[in-house]
Amino acid sequence: MHPYIASLGPCLFPSPLRHIGGVEAPYKTDADRVLFEHRATGQTVESEPWSFEEAGPREKIYFDPPRTTVGIVTCGGLCPGLNDIIRGIVNQCHHQYGITKVVGFRYGYEGLVQRYGHTPVTLRPASVAQAHNFGGTLLGSSRGAQDIGAMVDTLEDMKIDILFVIGGDGTLRGAAEIVKEIARRGLQKSVVGIPKTIDNDIMYLDKSFGFETAFAEAVQAVKCAYIESTGAVNGVGLVKLMGRDSGFIACFAALAGSNVDFVLIPEVPFALSGPSGLLETLRYRLAKRGNAVIVVSEGAGQDLMSGVSGTDASGNQRYGDVGLFLKDQINGFFKERSIEVNLKYIDPSYIVRSVPANAQDNVYCSRLAQGAVHAAVAGKTGMLVGRWHGSFVNLPLELVTQGRRKVHPSGELWHSVLESTGQPAHFG
Ligand code: F6P
Repeated sequence: MHPYIASLGPCLFPSPLRHIGGVEAPYKTDADRVLFEHRATGQTVESEPWSFEEAGPREKIYFDPPRTTVGIVTCGGLCPGLNDIIRGIVNQCHHQYGITKVVGFRYGYEGLVQRYGHTPVTLRPASVAQAHNFGGTLLGSSRGAQDIGAMVDTLEDMKIDILFVIGGDGTLRGAAEIVKEIARRGLQKSVVGIPKTIDNDIMYLDKSFGFETAFAEAVQAVKCAYIESTGAVNGVGLVKLMGRDSGFIACFAALAGSNVDFVLIPEVPFALSGPSGLLETLRYRLAKRGNAVIVVSEGAGQDLMSGVSGTDASGNQRYGDVGLFLKDQINGFFKERSIEVNLKYIDPSYIVRSVPANAQDNVYCSRLAQGAVHAAVAGKTGMLVGRWHGSFVNLPLELVTQGRRKVHPSGELWHSVLESTGQPAHFG
């Protein structure tokens, strides 16, 4: 079964995109596909290979631009590139499709529930012209689910035809619920997601926007940790990075920063004690080299800590601070053995995600925004736009929110980390 993208109905309006700067628009049809599997392993392919619908402009569109109103909402934690996406949608709507009624809902899904009193803002190209130069989101954000009926009431009251939802897996599951309620009421409204998470943990995407900026920023912290570790006897630089359940930022920052001795991620459990536990291995490394750098994802080693329970507003389990925990454990271990250690702890978490997008992410965000608008005006709904094997694709919301993308403990990325750090495959 190929992932199916729902549609509001036949596209009857000619796309105003016909020519861009005198060049024929690169129209796609739903029959243009991007293969899921790009590797062949020698066996005969008996059935038609699984594929995704290619994103891009359609020759005919569903919505009549002068009579179309667009809404945008950003949800969840901050991520570099949010403002680029907002700006990209506004510009694409105005300049390419002639859709001039674009509103931004404030503070995530709260902005779609009238009792919060967050007044929506009108968005125009002039008001977003400089947005990409700043981190964060000009609309504000919030975590957590809201009443689906109340949100669809607002869409009805404000005559919103297209809603762009920018957020992570919880947000996208909310978007799927909005789609169902719209269908239940028999309304003709499109909901299109743009997946957001600096943790890079969304399935069926090459990478999520803002990830490159985030780990590039994290590299600075890793480099500083190395410098600090070289400045004292038995220096240890310890860096904690975001990554609740997926250690991509830690892996990439360690690979890019080099000079990292240990990377600890949620996907690979580790033991602290014992002859081949992290602490003894660290002692050996210090005895051999005189300094060490450890990069740890926030979700790593949670089984070693106790006393943290409950969930945050997004429903994510609350985690203990593994950075502070490791700092105490390492200091205690060396103190007990009367070995001098000089540990410097760096936690750049919010710096890493609140910076403006870098040039690579600027481009990526613009293209995602363009793809999202192309899909929405064509009446596609219940989908998000992503990139797969370098091509932009339309993906059903349900497919992508089935699970979380993780670093595979026997995959190539983790092997690269092991090769780069020289750390053992297992501690303990
Ligand atoms: O969006 C995911 C994330 O970056 C996680 O890595 C992290 O646990 C979370 O956001 C923290 O966000 P906040 O402190 O805003 O809830």
